[in-house]
Amino acid sequence: METKIWIVDNIEDKSQFYPQISQAAQLLRAGEIVAFPTETVYGLGANATNTAAVEKIFSAKGRPSDNPLIVHIAQLQQLEEFATDIPTFAYQLIERFWPGPLTLVLKAKGNISEKVTAGLPTVAVRMPNHPIALALISECGLPLAAPSANLSGRPSPTTAKHVYDDLNGRIAGIVDGGETGVGVESTVLDCTEEIPVILRPGGVTKEEIEQVIGKVRIDVALEDKTAAPKSPGMKYTHYAPKSPLIIVAGSRTHLQHLVDEQRKRGMKVGVLTTEENQHFYQADVVLPCGRREDLHTVAAHLYEVLRHFDETDVELIYSESFPAEGIGAAIMNRLKKAAGYQVIREK
Ligand code: TXA
Ligand code: MG
Repeated sequence: METKIWIVDNIEDKSQFYPQISQAAQLLRAGEIVAFPTETVYGLGANATNTAAVEKIFSAKGRPSDNPLIVHIAQLQQLEEFATDIPTFAYQLIERFWPGPLTLVLKAKGNISEKVTAGLPTVAVRMPNHPIALALISECGLPLAAPSANLSGRPSPTTAKHVYDDLNGRIAGIVDGGETGVGVESTVLDCTEEIPVILRPGGVTKEEIEQVIGKVRIDVALEDKTAAPKSPGMKYTHYAPKSPLIIVAGSRTHLQHLVDEQRKRGMKVGVLTTEENQHFYQADVVLPCGRREDLHTVAAHLYEVLRHFDETDVELIYSESFPAEGIGAAIMNRLKKAAGYQVIREK
């Protein structure tokens, strides 16, 4: 299949990108799958009401079919077409965070393909905060099921090039709107419990949610990888770099010491660090990922840096650790998954 690419130069100028969006929307209405930027990562969209279209997402990505998809909407009234029994606190969150990187898991009403919900009685919905995503959903007039637009097992794409590298020839098109902003996926919040539960930390932090609705819980599977996950997606190793990744919780000196030991054994070693610390390390490859003083910049570049390591010849990667507060919770969640939960703590 030929993958069509639409390059949008100015994402703020709707009149300029409208012709491109309308072509992409036409393909989506015809049951094809198209990748588009959101404020978190690129999504791979399909008409959520069309089972054949949704099936194309799973086959293009190589995604296990028991892992449900998020439904993306552009208008609030679309929500009540798919979800029911929506609690008041969910509306408070919508008021504060939509459009934005918060996905709500609600009781499903039907009206969308069972392939989207993977047969669950619940549906995950979000309104992305990106002019292209919103325009595309509106132009289609359809809810779009959209997982991240990567091959299963690869880091989520934060540029159209990442999508192209993974999915060229497997999907109908890519709308290139440049780099996404947040860099990690949306926060997934289960709103079907009396006290809502964070199933996946992401762009909206626990602290921000609690400021609006009070105490929320964190799914036990996020802390303890042996517990049964509530969100089907959490049981999969989302991404493992080609070479083992190990998180070092400790000083820079300790991390450098670990690097030196491995290099003495003839290993090629990489270090994942920050702009502030990059000149401290001596290793075969040292890649900075944002600035430690602003963890949002780390989130924005994490997946790109992980992809970059896969293009180098390092045999082992040590990563600095980050405080797991605010956006740091999402960063550490993704890093730990990529590391298969290997953490070295300095004694
Ligand atoms: O930021 C994002 O959320 C991006 C962009 C493209 O919007 N999308 C994304 O989709 O990350 P995906 O498919 O890679 O992740 C969806 C997550 C999975 O962990 C899945 O298990 C969970 O949401 N999920 C979807 N429906 C669910 C449901 N009904 N109950 C519990 N978890 C659900
Ligand atoms: Mg994903």
